[in-house]
Amino acid sequence: MEWGFVIAGVGEASRSFAEGVAKGLGVGLCSARFKRFPDGEEYVRLEGCKVKGLDVVVVQTMESPQSSSLFTAMLLADAAREAGADRLALVAPYMAYARQDRVFLEGEPVSVRAAMKALYATGYDVLVTVEIHKEHSLRFFPGRSYSVYPFEKLAGAAGVDCGGDVIVAPDRGALGRAERLAKALGCRYGYLVKERDRVTGEIRLADASIEAEGARAVIVDDIISTGGTIALAAQALQASGASSVLVLVAHYLGLPGAGERLSKAGVSKVYAANTLPVSDAGLVEYVDVSDLAVSVLREA
Ligand code: R5P
Repeated sequence: MEWGFVIAGVGEASRSFAEGVAKGLGVGLCSARFKRFPDGEEYVRLEGCKVKGLDVVVVQTMESPQSSSLFTAMLLADAAREAGADRLALVAPYMAYARQDRVFLEGEPVSVRAAMKALYATGYDVLVTVEIHKEHSLRFFPGRSYSVYPFEKLAGAAGVDCGGDVIVAPDRGALGRAERLAKALGCRYGYLVKERDRVTGEIRLADASIEAEGARAVIVDDIISTGGTIALAAQALQASGASSVLVLVAHYLGLPGAGERLSKAGVSKVYAANTLPVSDAGLVEYVDVSDLAVSVLREA
């Protein structure tokens, strides 16, 4: 597909990711002005976006407040169509609601399905995101959808060395992405077993299948939110003899207190993809993965 223009959505994270996408595709970039009405409703207006008859990429990450970012992405689709855009792709570096990818307790929705249907209904033909938590969620989007895998890039930035490093999944659900990275690099790998109380959200480590003695442990996960999962894993790995712990994560949501929790648990560094606003600078190093989205857009 020949993409003709990129629209940068609202927020610095979306803007800088959009710059990378526009540069990679070699096309023009425009932005959207955003304001909130006194009653809280959102308003966007495209500025300098000459998109009539073009296939257009909108970049809008779903940072907090996530429901608002989701709705912003929908408004941008409608504005782009109104301005005459032809085909529309949404690059959502962070796709919110991806963790509710199935019904865990009776009466719940499949939230990611609801979000994807809404995006398609407002006009997106293509959806590109970074590490969607569970690949099967992609099929909930009625158009073409892609999730790019950022961990080889993150491992490169972190200087992962299979001589002394062991790759670790903090729970069984994360094993696939850790195993893929370990196999690509030729590293040893293993996993921890995490149990979460579905009602209270409380987590505990139940078991570990890993030999970490004397190794640098490289934990691979999709999201750091409160930092609770990684803190628990880091402590367990050090208790089993790991010499140090670093983390590769696709999305650093970094809720208040997360950075401190990770540091206290002995995490030396976090390498995160640039999918969300910067926080806990110093502990977290951001790696630009917009080129991975560009590669996928070229094939879409
Ligand atoms: C869980 O399934 C996810 O992959 C993450 O491990 C989890 O959401 C991280 O959340 P927190 O940082 O709050 O433990």
